[in-house]
Amino acid sequence: MTKNFAHRGFSGKYPENTMLAFRKAIEVGADGIELDVHLTKDGQLVIIHDETTDRTCGVSGKVGRMTLEELRQLDASYLWRGQMEEPNPIPTLREYCQLVEKLPLVTNIELKTNVNEYPGIEAKVLELIREFRLEDRVIISSFNHFSVLRMRELAPELKYGLLSESWVMGAGKYVHDLGIPCYHPIHGNLTPELTAELKQYGLEINTFTVNTEEDIRRLAALGIDAVIGNYPDMARRVLAECNGKGEA
Ligand code: G3P
Ligand code: MG
Repeated sequence: MTKNFAHRGFSGKYPENTMLAFRKAIEVGADGIELDVHLTKDGQLVIIHDETTDRTCGVSGKVGRMTLEELRQLDASYLWRGQMEEPNPIPTLREYCQLVEKLPLVTNIELKTNVNEYPGIEAKVLELIREFRLEDRVIISSFNHFSVLRMRELAPELKYGLLSESWVMGAGKYVHDLGIPCYHPIHGNLTPELTAELKQYGLEINTFTVNTEEDIRRLAALGIDAVIGNYPDMARRVLAECNGKGEA
């Protein structure tokens, strides 16, 4: 069964990484939500994709050099200007945890430590996961594999995934030898050969960013564990068919 994870929430139809996008992903029945976490100047965990506020908020600023209060003045629906009834602030990870605390869905927390390392971010994320008892419903991933290993040191009981946008040689062995259970490659790299290699190493495969029916069908047929995409409504419908047919 291939699962349906909403990439930055229901970001195909609502402003990415906002509470609105997360609520809408839940409404359409996503199995999971992927989101991106950064650390503010005053040590708060916020959900935003880029290192800067320029693209999504239309205001120039560096997330790591701004306080939470400064960031909260911004509207993260700049890309949807004129289409939203009200502003959508940059959410804190705490706000998100409150939303999903009682829900069965999986949260894929991507640590955005690939450009700025944000020292201490792993411990802060862990603290929140424990406070909200989300231990069994999270996958922690990052393009910065050191960051993933740092967090695993702190909490070996959580589930971890390594992100990759590259054509890595020996990816299955690499991930397996690090003792990490999930691999999160960009979907275009998932050839039948790579998929077979990853499966041979017993890895869970969650792939991004899958936005077309055709890609979802191909990946479901390969038996990929989860597709992470911007249209969880469409993915749900297509996967219901694919999973029903026993393709996955
Ligand atoms: O975690 C999957 C995907 O979100 C990784 O790429 O740039 O969309 O965060 P990006
Ligand atoms: Mg991401």
